[in-house]
Amino acid sequence: MLKQLVKATRSVRRFKQDPAPDLACLEELVALARLTPSASNLQPLRYFLVCGAEDRDKVFACVGWAGYLPEWDGPGPEERPTAYIIILSDPKISANPGIDVGLVTQTILLGAREKGFGGCALGSVQRERLQGELGLPSELKIALVIALGAPGEEVQLTEAEGGQIRYWRTEDDVHMVPKRPLDELIIGR
Ligand SMILES: Cc1cc2nc3c(=O)[nH]c(=O)nc-3n(C[C@H](O)[C@H](O)[C@H](O)COP(=O)(O)O)c2cc1C
Repeated sequence: MLKQLVKATRSVRRFKQDPAPDLACLEELVALARLTPSASNLQPLRYFLVCGAEDRDKVFACVGWAGYLPEWDGPGPEERPTAYIIILSDPKISANPGIDVGLVTQTILLGAREKGFGGCALGSVQRERLQGELGLPSELKIALVIALGAPGEEVQLTEAEGGQIRYWRTEDDVHMVPKRPLDELIIGR
């Protein structure tokens, strides 16, 4: 059911190292993303797939984790993502690809969840550094990085109270994600 899949598709930041998404799995996720809507059907996005240990280390060194958990240094060596999809845009095709990026990102995360994996969109990226480390074409711009792997943490939704939208971790290490109530979101009917 769609609602269950959407609810289960939480941002995961700690991963088991096995099983790991392989290249074929990442290609299937991009094949899914290919089918999403695109403004003026321009389809300005391109994808760089990362599975190998060396490239994974390069990506990991360039991304930032969980800004609301400053006391947490990010996933430890045994908790790191086992794959990444880097979404790039071609400015010659579109100057404004942001909504396309959002649509493909959620599609990829839903697809990953359906395959038993989890992931996290990462906007906190040292883009120039990553572009250089991986030798990505300079005419493309890194839009977002999606970290992927087998979920190694529990993430639960909760109601946001009093406008408190920062996620936190319980004593049992459950990652809690507050969502604003529906009557705050619908501003008219
Ligand atoms: C565009 C975008 C950028 C994000 N960037 C980061 C990031 O750099 N680092 C991170 O740890 N999480 C990042 N996230 C994950 C959000 O923190 C997460 O979606 C939010 O806490 C809600 O949790 P949920 O995805 O489980 O609903 C990003 C999410 C989106 C949509």
